[in-house]
Amino acid sequence: MENFIHLFRHHPDPIFLSDPAGRIIFWNIPAEEMLGVTYQEDNIAMVEKVAAHRFHPSLDLLFRESLENMRSQSSWILPLPLDPCLSPIKITIMPITQAGKATGAWGVCHVNAREEEEAQPQNTGDNLIRRINSFLLNTIESTVNGIMVMDTRGKVLIFNKSMENMTGFQAGEVVGIPGALELFYGWETAKANMSAMRGEENGPPGRLVMHHTTLKDRQGNKIPVSLSAAIIKEGGVETGSVGVFSDLRDTKRMEEDLRQAQERLVEADKAAALGRLSSSVAHEINNPLSGIVMFAEIMQKRLAGDPESVADLKEIIDQTLRCKSIVRNLLDFSRKSSGDWAGFDLNMAFRQCLDIVLPQSRFQNIEVHCSFDDNLPDIVADRVQIQQVFINLVLNAADSMARSGGEIHITTSRDTGRGVFLIQIRDTGPGVPEHEREKIFESFYTTKPVGYGTGLGLSISREIIKAHGGSITVENHPCGGAMFTVELPGKPGGA
Ligand SMILES: Nc1ncnc2c1ncn2[C@@H]1O[C@H](COP(=O)(O)OP(=O)(O)OP(=O)(O)O)[C@@H](O)[C@H]1O
Ligand SMILES: [Mg+2]
Repeated sequence: MENFIHLFRHHPDPIFLSDPAGRIIFWNIPAEEMLGVTYQEDNIAMVEKVAAHRFHPSLDLLFRESLENMRSQSSWILPLPLDPCLSPIKITIMPITQAGKATGAWGVCHVNAREEEEAQPQNTGDNLIRRINSFLLNTIESTVNGIMVMDTRGKVLIFNKSMENMTGFQAGEVVGIPGALELFYGWETAKANMSAMRGEENGPPGRLVMHHTTLKDRQGNKIPVSLSAAIIKEGGVETGSVGVFSDLRDTKRMEEDLRQAQERLVEADKAAALGRLSSSVAHEINNPLSGIVMFAEIMQKRLAGDPESVADLKEIIDQTLRCKSIVRNLLDFSRKSSGDWAGFDLNMAFRQCLDIVLPQSRFQNIEVHCSFDDNLPDIVADRVQIQQVFINLVLNAADSMARSGGEIHITTSRDTGRGVFLIQIRDTGPGVPEHEREKIFESFYTTKPVGYGTGLGLSISREIIKAHGGSITVENHPCGGAMFTVELPGKPGGA
Protein backbone atom coordinates (compact mmCIF):
# COMPACT_ATOMS: atom_id res chain seq x y z
CA MET A 1 0.00 0.00 0.00
CA GLU A 2 2.91 2.26 0.82
CA ASN A 3 4.07 1.90 -2.76
CA PHE A 4 0.69 3.00 -4.04
CA ILE A 5 0.62 5.99 -1.72
CA HIS A 6 3.99 7.07 -3.00
CA LEU A 7 2.95 6.49 -6.59
CA PHE A 8 -0.34 8.35 -6.38
CA ARG A 9 0.71 11.26 -4.23
CA HIS A 10 1.63 13.54 -7.12
CA HIS A 11 -0.65 12.05 -9.76
CA PRO A 12 -2.47 14.87 -11.64
CA ASP A 13 -5.94 13.33 -11.09
CA PRO A 14 -7.62 13.08 -7.65
CA ILE A 15 -7.05 9.55 -6.36
CA PHE A 16 -8.43 7.80 -3.24
CA LEU A 17 -7.22 4.55 -1.68
CA SER A 18 -9.33 2.30 0.51
CA ASP A 19 -8.62 -0.62 2.78
CA PRO A 20 -10.16 -4.09 2.06
CA ALA A 21 -13.35 -2.99 3.88
CA GLY A 22 -13.76 0.04 1.59
CA ARG A 23 -12.72 2.61 4.17
CA ILE A 24 -10.80 5.59 2.71
CA ILE A 25 -7.20 5.47 3.98
CA PHE A 26 -5.44 7.82 1.58
CA TRP A 27 -6.15 10.64 -0.94
CA ASN A 28 -3.58 12.47 -3.04
CA ILE A 29 -2.83 16.19 -3.52
CA PRO A 30 -5.41 16.86 -6.30
CA ALA A 31 -8.00 15.09 -4.10
CA GLU A 32 -6.97 17.32 -1.18
CA GLU A 33 -7.60 20.35 -3.40
CA MET A 34 -10.91 18.99 -4.62
CA LEU A 35 -12.30 18.33 -1.12
CA GLY A 36 -10.36 20.90 0.85
CA VAL A 37 -9.19 18.23 3.34
CA THR A 38 -5.48 17.60 3.85
CA TYR A 39 -4.30 14.00 3.92
CA GLN A 40 -3.67 13.07 7.55
CA GLU A 41 -4.57 10.02 9.57
CA ASP A 42 -6.74 12.27 11.76
CA ASN A 43 -8.65 13.57 8.82
CA ILE A 44 -9.86 10.20 7.57
CA ALA A 45 -13.27 10.54 9.17
CA MET A 46 -13.43 14.12 7.92
CA VAL A 47 -12.61 13.24 4.29
CA GLU A 48 -15.35 10.62 4.24
CA LYS A 49 -17.84 13.06 5.61
CA VAL A 50 -16.93 15.79 3.13
CA ALA A 51 -16.89 13.30 0.26
CA ALA A 52 -20.28 11.93 1.26
CA HIS A 53 -21.60 15.46 1.47
CA ARG A 54 -20.08 16.54 -1.80
CA PHE A 55 -20.52 13.37 -3.81
CA HIS A 56 -23.62 11.69 -2.59
CA PRO A 57 -23.46 8.75 -2.32
CA SER A 58 -20.51 8.42 -0.04
CA LEU A 59 -17.18 7.20 -1.39
CA ASP A 60 -16.78 4.29 1.02
CA LEU A 61 -20.06 2.86 -0.20
CA LEU A 62 -18.80 2.83 -3.80
CA PHE A 63 -15.47 1.30 -2.73
CA ARG A 64 -17.25 -1.40 -0.76
CA GLU A 65 -19.48 -2.16 -3.73
CA SER A 66 -16.42 -2.61 -5.95
CA LEU A 67 -14.61 -4.78 -3.45
CA GLU A 68 -17.61 -6.96 -2.67
CA ASN A 69 -18.24 -7.70 -6.35
CA MET A 70 -14.51 -7.80 -7.12
CA ARG A 71 -15.17 -6.08 -10.42
CA SER A 72 -11.98 -5.29 -12.31
CA GLN A 73 -13.27 -1.78 -12.84
CA SER A 74 -16.44 0.15 -11.91
CA SER A 75 -17.27 3.72 -12.86
CA TRP A 76 -19.75 6.15 -11.42
CA ILE A 77 -20.68 9.66 -12.34
CA LEU A 78 -20.86 11.66 -9.14
CA PRO A 79 -23.02 14.74 -9.20
CA LEU A 80 -22.08 17.71 -7.05
CA PRO A 81 -25.37 18.47 -5.29
CA LEU A 82 -24.05 21.56 -3.54
CA ASP A 83 -22.95 23.23 -6.67
CA PRO A 84 -24.78 22.01 -9.78
CA CYS A 85 -22.73 24.43 -11.92
CA LEU A 86 -19.56 22.51 -11.21
CA SER A 87 -18.70 19.59 -13.40
CA PRO A 88 -19.81 16.21 -12.12
CA ILE A 89 -17.02 13.82 -11.37
CA LYS A 90 -16.58 10.37 -12.75
CA ILE A 91 -14.82 7.97 -10.46
CA THR A 92 -13.35 4.70 -11.60
CA ILE A 93 -12.62 2.22 -8.81
CA MET A 94 -10.38 -0.81 -9.17
CA PRO A 95 -9.65 -3.41 -6.45
CA ILE A 96 -5.98 -4.02 -5.57
CA THR A 97 -5.31 -7.75 -5.23
CA GLN A 98 -2.45 -9.81 -3.96
CA ALA A 99 -2.45 -13.57 -4.45
CA GLY A 100 -6.10 -13.36 -5.49
CA LYS A 101 -7.12 -11.50 -2.32
CA ALA A 102 -8.27 -7.88 -2.20
CA THR A 103 -5.94 -5.76 -0.15
CA GLY A 104 -7.81 -2.57 -0.90
CA ALA A 105 -8.99 -0.49 -3.83
CA TRP A 106 -8.09 2.70 -5.56
CA GLY A 107 -10.36 5.18 -7.24
CA VAL A 108 -9.35 7.81 -9.77
CA CYS A 109 -11.57 10.85 -10.46
CA HIS A 110 -12.10 12.52 -13.85
CA VAL A 111 -13.31 16.06 -13.44
CA ASN A 112 -14.38 16.54 -17.09
CA ALA A 113 -17.15 13.97 -16.64
CA ARG A 114 -19.87 16.39 -17.83
CA GLU A 115 -18.42 16.49 -21.33
CA GLU A 116 -18.13 12.73 -21.22
CA GLU A 117 -21.65 12.45 -19.90
CA GLU A 118 -22.88 14.72 -22.65
CA ALA A 119 -20.82 12.90 -25.22
CA GLN A 120 -22.21 9.56 -24.02
CA PRO A 121 -25.86 10.02 -25.01
CA GLN A 122 -24.66 11.75 -28.17
CA ASN A 123 -22.69 8.68 -29.12
CA THR A 124 -25.55 6.41 -28.19
CA GLY A 125 -27.88 8.59 -30.29
CA ASP A 126 -25.52 8.43 -33.23
CA ASN A 127 -25.37 4.68 -32.96
CA LEU A 128 -29.10 4.49 -32.71
CA ILE A 129 -29.55 6.71 -35.75
CA ARG A 130 -26.97 4.69 -37.61
CA ARG A 131 -28.73 1.47 -36.63
CA ILE A 132 -32.16 2.84 -37.62
CA ASN A 133 -30.71 4.15 -40.89
CA SER A 134 -29.18 0.83 -41.80
CA PHE A 135 -32.43 -0.95 -40.87
CA LEU A 136 -34.44 1.42 -43.08
CA LEU A 137 -31.99 1.09 -45.96
CA ASN A 138 -32.14 -2.71 -45.65
CA THR A 139 -35.93 -2.54 -45.67
CA ILE A 140 -35.89 -0.30 -48.76
CA GLU A 141 -33.34 -2.56 -50.49
CA SER A 142 -35.29 -5.75 -49.90
CA THR A 143 -38.71 -4.37 -50.78
CA VAL A 144 -40.23 -6.17 -53.79
CA ASN A 145 -41.49 -2.89 -55.23
CA GLY A 146 -39.11 -0.44 -56.84
CA ILE A 147 -38.36 2.53 -54.55
CA MET A 148 -36.76 5.73 -55.75
CA VAL A 149 -36.11 8.94 -53.85
CA MET A 150 -35.10 12.08 -55.68
CA ASP A 151 -34.43 15.67 -54.71
CA THR A 152 -36.36 18.68 -56.03
CA ARG A 153 -34.05 18.95 -59.02
CA GLY A 154 -34.66 15.37 -60.07
CA LYS A 155 -31.35 14.02 -58.77
CA VAL A 156 -31.78 10.41 -57.65
CA LEU A 157 -30.88 9.82 -53.99
CA ILE A 158 -32.11 6.27 -53.48
CA PHE A 159 -32.54 3.56 -56.13
CA ASN A 160 -33.28 0.16 -54.61
CA LYS A 161 -32.56 -3.37 -55.83
CA SER A 162 -36.04 -3.83 -57.35
CA MET A 163 -35.55 -0.63 -59.36
CA GLU A 164 -32.26 -2.10 -60.60
CA ASN A 165 -33.96 -5.38 -61.55
CA MET A 166 -36.86 -3.64 -63.24
CA THR A 167 -34.87 -1.16 -65.30
CA GLY A 168 -31.55 -2.96 -65.73
CA PHE A 169 -29.67 0.13 -64.47
CA GLN A 170 -27.44 -0.15 -61.41
CA ALA A 171 -27.81 2.30 -58.51
CA GLY A 172 -24.21 3.37 -59.15
CA GLU A 173 -25.20 4.55 -62.62
CA VAL A 174 -28.01 6.81 -61.46
CA VAL A 175 -27.62 7.85 -57.82
CA GLY A 176 -26.30 11.38 -57.50
CA ILE A 177 -25.70 11.67 -61.25
CA PRO A 178 -27.38 14.75 -62.75
CA GLY A 179 -29.69 13.91 -65.65
CA ALA A 180 -29.69 10.15 -64.91
CA LEU A 181 -33.46 10.26 -64.44
CA GLU A 182 -33.84 10.53 -68.21
CA LEU A 183 -32.26 7.06 -68.63
CA PHE A 184 -35.04 5.07 -67.00
CA TYR A 185 -37.89 7.52 -66.40
CA GLY A 186 -37.86 10.36 -68.92
CA TRP A 187 -38.11 14.02 -67.97
CA GLU A 188 -41.53 14.43 -69.55
CA THR A 189 -43.02 11.46 -67.70
CA ALA A 190 -41.39 12.58 -64.45
CA LYS A 191 -42.70 16.13 -64.89
CA ALA A 192 -46.21 14.89 -65.74
CA ASN A 193 -46.22 12.63 -62.66
CA MET A 194 -44.94 15.45 -60.41
CA SER A 195 -47.73 17.75 -61.57
CA ALA A 196 -50.25 14.91 -61.12
CA MET A 197 -48.87 14.57 -57.58
CA ARG A 198 -49.45 18.25 -56.89
CA GLY A 199 -52.98 18.09 -58.30
CA GLU A 200 -55.99 16.59 -56.59
CA GLU A 201 -57.23 14.13 -59.20
CA ASN A 202 -54.97 11.27 -58.07
CA GLY A 203 -55.36 11.48 -54.31
CA PRO A 204 -54.68 14.26 -51.81
CA PRO A 205 -52.29 17.01 -53.03
CA GLY A 206 -48.68 16.01 -52.52
CA ARG A 207 -49.55 12.35 -53.05
CA LEU A 208 -50.10 10.08 -55.99
CA VAL A 209 -51.98 6.83 -55.49
CA MET A 210 -51.70 3.84 -57.88
CA HIS A 211 -51.05 6.07 -60.86
CA HIS A 212 -50.38 4.16 -64.10
CA THR A 213 -47.20 5.34 -65.82
CA THR A 214 -44.14 3.90 -67.54
CA LEU A 215 -40.43 3.41 -66.88
CA LYS A 216 -37.81 2.52 -69.47
CA ASP A 217 -35.38 -0.37 -69.34
CA ARG A 218 -31.81 -0.34 -70.61
CA GLN A 219 -32.97 -1.32 -74.10
CA GLY A 220 -35.47 1.56 -74.14
CA ASN A 221 -38.48 -0.78 -73.78
CA LYS A 222 -41.40 0.74 -71.92
CA ILE A 223 -42.31 -0.91 -68.62
CA PRO A 224 -45.89 -0.33 -67.49
CA VAL A 225 -45.87 0.44 -63.75
CA SER A 226 -48.22 1.60 -61.03
CA LEU A 227 -46.74 4.52 -59.11
CA SER A 228 -47.60 5.62 -55.58
CA ALA A 229 -45.60 8.67 -54.61
CA ALA A 230 -45.39 11.47 -52.08
CA ILE A 231 -43.60 14.79 -51.75
CA ILE A 232 -41.06 14.89 -48.93
CA LYS A 233 -41.08 18.06 -46.79
CA GLU A 234 -38.67 19.09 -44.08
CA GLY A 235 -39.77 21.95 -41.84
CA GLY A 236 -42.52 22.79 -44.35
CA VAL A 237 -40.06 23.04 -47.22
CA GLU A 238 -40.21 20.60 -50.13
CA THR A 239 -36.94 18.66 -50.29
CA GLY A 240 -37.77 15.85 -52.68
CA SER A 241 -40.12 13.01 -53.43
CA VAL A 242 -40.36 9.28 -52.89
CA GLY A 243 -41.91 6.94 -55.44
CA VAL A 244 -42.91 3.29 -55.10
CA PHE A 245 -43.13 1.55 -58.49
CA SER A 246 -44.93 -1.79 -59.01
CA ASP A 247 -44.14 -3.67 -62.20
CA LEU A 248 -47.39 -4.27 -64.10
CA ARG A 249 -45.93 -6.45 -66.84
CA ASP A 250 -47.13 -9.73 -65.31
CA THR A 251 -50.55 -8.25 -64.58
CA LYS A 252 -50.78 -6.89 -68.13
CA ARG A 253 -49.71 -10.26 -69.53
CA MET A 254 -52.37 -11.98 -67.47
CA GLU A 255 -54.97 -9.43 -68.58
CA GLU A 256 -53.94 -9.96 -72.20
CA ASP A 257 -54.14 -13.77 -71.82
CA LEU A 258 -57.57 -13.37 -70.25
CA ARG A 259 -58.68 -11.01 -73.02
CA GLN A 260 -57.46 -13.43 -75.68
CA ALA A 261 -59.17 -16.34 -73.94
CA GLN A 262 -62.40 -14.32 -73.84
CA GLU A 263 -61.98 -13.42 -77.50
CA ARG A 264 -61.44 -17.07 -78.38
CA LEU A 265 -64.60 -17.95 -76.47
CA VAL A 266 -66.55 -15.27 -78.32
CA GLU A 267 -65.03 -16.50 -81.59
CA ALA A 268 -65.95 -20.07 -80.79
CA ASP A 269 -69.43 -18.86 -79.97
CA LYS A 270 -69.66 -16.90 -83.20
CA ALA A 271 -68.32 -19.85 -85.18
CA ALA A 272 -70.90 -22.12 -83.60
CA ALA A 273 -73.66 -19.60 -84.41
CA LEU A 274 -72.27 -19.24 -87.90
CA GLY A 275 -72.27 -22.99 -88.30
CA ARG A 276 -75.93 -23.24 -87.30
CA LEU A 277 -76.88 -20.28 -89.49
CA SER A 278 -74.95 -21.41 -92.54
CA SER A 279 -76.25 -24.94 -92.44
CA SER A 280 -79.86 -23.73 -92.42
CA VAL A 281 -79.20 -21.05 -95.09
CA ALA A 282 -77.21 -23.47 -97.22
CA HIS A 283 -80.13 -25.89 -97.39
CA GLU A 284 -82.45 -23.06 -98.41
CA ILE A 285 -80.08 -21.73 -101.10
CA ASN A 286 -79.13 -25.07 -102.54
CA ASN A 287 -82.56 -25.70 -104.04
CA PRO A 288 -82.93 -22.39 -105.95
CA LEU A 289 -79.35 -22.80 -107.22
CA SER A 290 -80.18 -26.23 -108.55
CA GLY A 291 -83.20 -24.63 -110.22
CA ILE A 292 -81.02 -21.96 -111.90
CA VAL A 293 -78.59 -24.57 -113.23
CA MET A 294 -81.42 -26.73 -114.50
CA PHE A 295 -83.20 -23.86 -116.31
CA ALA A 296 -79.93 -22.50 -117.72
CA GLU A 297 -79.14 -25.93 -119.17
CA ILE A 298 -82.64 -26.08 -120.72
CA MET A 299 -82.08 -22.64 -122.28
CA GLN A 300 -78.64 -23.73 -123.54
CA LYS A 301 -80.33 -26.53 -125.44
CA ARG A 302 -83.05 -24.19 -126.74
CA LEU A 303 -80.51 -21.61 -127.94
CA ALA A 304 -78.10 -24.17 -129.36
CA GLY A 305 -77.90 -22.22 -132.62
CA ASP A 306 -76.79 -18.99 -130.89
CA PRO A 307 -73.17 -19.58 -129.77
CA GLU A 308 -72.90 -16.23 -127.92
CA SER A 309 -75.97 -16.96 -125.78
CA VAL A 310 -74.74 -20.52 -125.18
CA ALA A 311 -71.40 -19.13 -123.93
CA ASP A 312 -73.19 -16.64 -121.62
CA LEU A 313 -75.40 -19.40 -120.31
CA LYS A 314 -72.34 -21.57 -119.69
CA GLU A 315 -70.92 -18.74 -117.59
CA ILE A 316 -74.22 -18.60 -115.63
CA ILE A 317 -74.09 -22.36 -115.07
CA ASP A 318 -70.39 -22.27 -114.01
CA GLN A 319 -70.92 -19.41 -111.58
CA THR A 320 -74.02 -21.05 -110.13
CA LEU A 321 -72.16 -24.31 -109.71
CA ARG A 322 -69.47 -22.38 -107.87
CA CYS A 323 -72.17 -20.95 -105.62
CA LYS A 324 -73.42 -24.46 -104.99
CA SER A 325 -69.91 -25.51 -104.15
CA ILE A 326 -69.53 -22.61 -101.73
CA VAL A 327 -72.81 -23.52 -100.13
CA ARG A 328 -71.62 -27.08 -99.80
CA ASN A 329 -68.41 -25.77 -98.29
CA LEU A 330 -70.35 -23.69 -95.82
CA LEU A 331 -72.11 -26.87 -94.83
CA ASP A 332 -68.76 -28.60 -94.55
CA PHE A 333 -67.45 -25.70 -92.48
CA SER A 334 -70.39 -25.91 -90.12
CA ARG A 335 -69.85 -29.64 -89.80
CA LYS A 336 -66.13 -29.01 -89.36
CA SER A 337 -65.58 -31.36 -92.27
CA SER A 338 -62.32 -31.04 -94.13
CA GLY A 339 -63.99 -32.08 -97.40
CA ASP A 340 -62.43 -34.05 -100.20
CA TRP A 341 -58.69 -34.19 -100.14
CA ALA A 342 -56.73 -34.97 -103.27
CA GLY A 343 -53.48 -34.01 -104.95
CA PHE A 344 -53.66 -31.04 -107.33
CA ASP A 345 -51.56 -28.31 -108.91
CA LEU A 346 -51.69 -25.24 -106.71
CA ASN A 347 -50.77 -22.87 -109.57
CA MET A 348 -53.48 -24.27 -111.76
CA ALA A 349 -56.04 -23.97 -108.96
CA PHE A 350 -55.09 -20.31 -108.50
CA ARG A 351 -55.33 -19.62 -112.25
CA GLN A 352 -58.85 -21.07 -112.27
CA CYS A 353 -59.80 -18.66 -109.45
CA LEU A 354 -58.41 -15.72 -111.38
CA ASP A 355 -60.33 -16.80 -114.48
CA ILE A 356 -63.51 -16.56 -112.43
CA VAL A 357 -62.88 -13.28 -110.65
CA LEU A 358 -60.89 -11.15 -113.10
CA PRO A 359 -63.78 -10.48 -115.48
CA GLN A 360 -65.59 -8.70 -112.63
CA SER A 361 -65.87 -4.93 -112.89
CA ARG A 362 -63.97 -4.41 -109.61
CA PHE A 363 -60.77 -5.48 -111.41
CA GLN A 364 -61.10 -2.75 -114.08
CA ASN A 365 -58.29 -0.57 -112.75
CA ILE A 366 -56.24 -3.37 -111.25
CA GLU A 367 -53.25 -5.14 -112.72
CA VAL A 368 -52.63 -8.69 -111.55
CA HIS A 369 -49.05 -10.02 -111.66
CA CYS A 370 -48.42 -13.70 -111.02
CA SER A 371 -45.07 -15.19 -110.17
CA PHE A 372 -45.76 -18.89 -109.86
CA ASP A 373 -43.10 -21.45 -109.05
CA ASP A 374 -43.39 -23.81 -112.02
CA ASN A 375 -41.57 -26.60 -110.22
CA LEU A 376 -44.16 -26.80 -107.49
CA PRO A 377 -45.19 -30.38 -106.75
CA ASP A 378 -48.87 -31.26 -106.31
CA ILE A 379 -50.35 -30.40 -102.97
CA VAL A 380 -52.79 -32.65 -101.17
CA ALA A 381 -55.71 -30.61 -99.90
CA ASP A 382 -59.35 -29.81 -100.42
CA ARG A 383 -59.08 -27.95 -103.73
CA VAL A 384 -62.46 -26.24 -103.57
CA GLN A 385 -61.82 -24.95 -100.06
CA ILE A 386 -58.32 -23.71 -100.92
CA GLN A 387 -59.73 -21.96 -104.00
CA GLN A 388 -62.34 -20.33 -101.77
CA VAL A 389 -59.49 -18.89 -99.70
CA PHE A 390 -57.65 -17.62 -102.78
CA ILE A 391 -60.78 -15.99 -104.17
CA ASN A 392 -61.50 -14.22 -100.91
CA LEU A 393 -57.94 -12.92 -100.64
CA VAL A 394 -57.90 -11.67 -104.23
CA LEU A 395 -61.34 -10.04 -103.89
CA ASN A 396 -60.26 -8.36 -100.64
CA ALA A 397 -57.11 -7.06 -102.33
CA ALA A 398 -59.18 -5.65 -105.20
CA ASP A 399 -61.72 -4.11 -102.81
CA SER A 400 -58.95 -2.33 -100.87
CA MET A 401 -58.00 -0.53 -104.10
CA ALA A 402 -61.56 -0.04 -105.39
CA ARG A 403 -61.20 3.74 -105.72
CA SER A 404 -57.58 4.25 -106.64
CA GLY A 405 -56.83 1.12 -108.63
CA GLY A 406 -53.45 -0.59 -108.20
CA GLU A 407 -51.62 -3.87 -108.47
CA ILE A 408 -51.98 -7.34 -107.05
CA HIS A 409 -48.87 -9.52 -106.92
CA ILE A 410 -49.37 -13.23 -106.40
CA THR A 411 -46.48 -15.60 -105.75
CA THR A 412 -46.38 -19.29 -105.05
CA SER A 413 -43.30 -21.09 -103.80
CA ARG A 414 -42.16 -23.92 -101.61
CA ASP A 415 -39.93 -23.85 -98.57
CA THR A 416 -38.31 -27.24 -99.01
CA GLY A 417 -36.51 -26.94 -95.67
CA ARG A 418 -39.76 -26.73 -93.73
CA GLY A 419 -41.76 -28.68 -96.28
CA VAL A 420 -44.42 -26.00 -96.71
CA PHE A 421 -46.14 -24.34 -99.64
CA LEU A 422 -46.13 -20.55 -99.53
CA ILE A 423 -48.73 -18.40 -101.24
CA GLN A 424 -48.45 -14.60 -101.04
CA ILE A 425 -51.06 -12.12 -102.18
CA ARG A 426 -49.85 -8.54 -102.03
CA ASP A 427 -51.70 -5.41 -103.06
CA THR A 428 -50.80 -1.72 -103.32
CA GLY A 429 -53.80 -0.54 -101.29
CA PRO A 430 -53.78 1.20 -97.88
CA GLY A 431 -52.68 -1.92 -95.98
CA VAL A 432 -54.05 -3.13 -92.65
CA PRO A 433 -53.31 -1.00 -89.55
CA GLU A 434 -51.27 -2.95 -87.00
CA HIS A 435 -53.98 -2.91 -84.33
CA GLU A 436 -56.45 -4.50 -86.77
CA ARG A 437 -54.23 -7.33 -87.99
CA GLU A 438 -55.84 -9.94 -85.74
CA LYS A 439 -59.27 -8.33 -85.73
CA ILE A 440 -59.81 -8.73 -89.48
CA PHE A 441 -59.80 -12.52 -88.99
CA GLU A 442 -62.75 -12.32 -86.59
CA SER A 443 -66.13 -13.42 -87.87
CA PHE A 444 -68.36 -10.53 -89.00
CA TYR A 445 -65.56 -7.96 -88.80
CA THR A 446 -65.82 -5.78 -91.88
CA THR A 447 -65.04 -2.20 -92.78
CA LYS A 448 -67.07 -2.43 -95.94
CA PRO A 449 -70.38 -0.56 -96.22
CA VAL A 450 -73.55 -2.37 -95.21
CA GLY A 451 -74.56 -4.76 -97.96
CA TYR A 452 -71.04 -5.02 -99.40
CA GLY A 453 -69.23 -7.28 -96.97
CA THR A 454 -70.30 -9.84 -94.39
CA GLY A 455 -66.93 -9.96 -92.65
CA LEU A 456 -66.84 -13.73 -93.02
CA GLY A 457 -64.30 -14.12 -95.82
CA LEU A 458 -61.14 -14.09 -93.70
CA SER A 459 -62.56 -15.96 -90.72
CA ILE A 460 -63.73 -18.79 -92.99
CA SER A 461 -60.39 -18.67 -94.81
CA ARG A 462 -58.49 -19.00 -91.54
CA GLU A 463 -60.68 -21.91 -90.45
CA ILE A 464 -60.04 -23.67 -93.76
CA ILE A 465 -56.28 -23.13 -93.63
CA LYS A 466 -56.22 -24.19 -89.99
CA ALA A 467 -58.10 -27.38 -90.89
CA HIS A 468 -55.28 -28.04 -93.37
CA GLY A 469 -52.68 -27.57 -90.65
CA GLY A 470 -51.45 -24.30 -92.14
CA SER A 471 -51.52 -20.63 -91.23
CA ILE A 472 -52.62 -17.37 -92.73
CA THR A 473 -51.11 -14.07 -91.63
CA VAL A 474 -51.05 -10.49 -92.76
CA GLU A 475 -48.44 -7.77 -92.63
CA ASN A 476 -47.89 -4.57 -94.51
CA HIS A 477 -45.37 -4.58 -97.32
CA PRO A 478 -42.52 -2.08 -96.87
CA CYS A 479 -43.65 -0.37 -100.10
CA GLY A 480 -47.23 -0.12 -98.78
CA GLY A 481 -50.25 -2.35 -99.16
CA ALA A 482 -51.29 -5.52 -97.41
CA MET A 483 -49.43 -8.78 -97.84
CA PHE A 484 -51.27 -11.99 -96.92
CA THR A 485 -49.16 -15.12 -96.55
CA VAL A 486 -50.71 -18.56 -96.60
CA GLU A 487 -48.57 -21.45 -95.46
CA LEU A 488 -49.77 -24.94 -96.24
CA PRO A 489 -47.95 -28.01 -95.04
CA GLY A 490 -47.64 -30.99 -97.22
CA LYS A 491 -45.27 -33.38 -98.78
CA PRO A 492 -45.34 -33.31 -102.56
CA GLY A 493 -47.46 -35.88 -104.36
CA GLY A 494 -49.86 -36.38 -101.52
CA ALA A 495 -47.59 -38.30 -99.16
N1 LIG B 1 -56.08 -6.55 -98.74
C1 LIG B 1 -56.67 -5.84 -97.77
N2 LIG B 1 -56.31 -4.54 -97.57
C2 LIG B 1 -56.89 -3.82 -96.59
N3 LIG B 1 -57.83 -4.29 -95.74
C3 LIG B 1 -58.23 -5.57 -95.90
C4 LIG B 1 -57.67 -6.40 -96.90
N4 LIG B 1 -58.25 -7.62 -96.79
C5 LIG B 1 -59.13 -7.55 -95.78
N5 LIG B 1 -59.14 -6.32 -95.24
C6 LIG B 1 -59.97 -5.86 -94.12
O1 LIG B 1 -60.46 -6.98 -93.44
C7 LIG B 1 -61.87 -6.92 -93.32
C8 LIG B 1 -62.45 -8.31 -93.23
O2 LIG B 1 -62.24 -9.02 -94.43
P1 LIG B 1 -63.17 -10.25 -94.73
O3 LIG B 1 -62.75 -10.83 -96.02
O4 LIG B 1 -63.19 -11.14 -93.55
O5 LIG B 1 -64.59 -9.60 -94.81
P2 LIG B 1 -65.13 -8.61 -95.93
O6 LIG B 1 -64.25 -8.68 -97.13
O7 LIG B 1 -65.31 -7.30 -95.28
O8 LIG B 1 -66.52 -9.25 -96.22
P3 LIG B 1 -66.79 -10.65 -96.97
O9 LIG B 1 -67.46 -11.49 -95.96
O10 LIG B 1 -67.64 -10.28 -98.11
O11 LIG B 1 -65.47 -11.19 -97.38
C9 LIG B 1 -62.30 -6.12 -94.51
O12 LIG B 1 -63.55 -5.51 -94.34
C10 LIG B 1 -61.18 -5.07 -94.60
O13 LIG B 1 -61.39 -4.03 -93.68
MG1 LIG C 1 -63.66 -10.54 -97.97
